[in-house]
Amino acid sequence: MILPSVLETLWFILPAWVANSAAIDVSGLPVLKRFSTPVDFGRTIRGKRILGDGKTWRGLICGTLAGGVCAHLQGIWEPAGLYHMAAYTGLLLGFGALMGDMVESFIKRRMGMDRGHPLFLMDQLDYIFGAFFIAWTHVPFVTVGFGYLAMACLLTVPVHFLASVVAWWLKLKKNPW
Ligand code: CTP
Ligand code: MG
Repeated sequence: MILPSVLETLWFILPAWVANSAAIDVSGLPVLKRFSTPVDFGRTIRGKRILGDGKTWRGLICGTLAGGVCAHLQGIWEPAGLYHMAAYTGLLLGFGALMGDMVESFIKRRMGMDRGHPLFLMDQLDYIFGAFFIAWTHVPFVTVGFGYLAMACLLTVPVHFLASVVAWWLKLKKNPW
């Protein structure tokens, strides 16, 4: 497995990072506060929420769009040697990121963990796995391999911790993880 450089990896996963943080950041915007309908519409399976109140349509839609905008801007700039980005790649990566995050919440709820309960490494990497899953299954001719996933995980864990502490301090997140 050949590890890509930090820059190559950052360039590719940026829309996923942006999508994940946008989903959190928009929850702090007063105009969007009332759009907090949960993706699962409050439904339960065997008495436990399907996903929980932390997964909203607002987060899913705004996050996916933010991923698209990010990749569109990357595509305009496009430095030589880096992965070719376009809006549709970013929409897919952003959507994949938020799907990964929802899969994690689904698993947490099935394990009886309430919203916000920490699950070490999964809280930090759920959206990276989701983004790569969608990239490998839905982005045509995608050239990134397992090395990119490994490098993305190495970079995301510490950055996610730092960003989460800041988001918690800004009262955007209920917990600092
Ligand atoms: N968020 C959202 N919609 C999404 C994803 C995230 O509104 N689809 C917002 C919610 O305000 C959520 C916050 O981003 O609380 C942080 O996301 P995360 O840490 O994944 O959620 P938790 O609240 O910790 O819930 P869970 O236990 O389900 O992970
Ligand atoms: Mg999560």
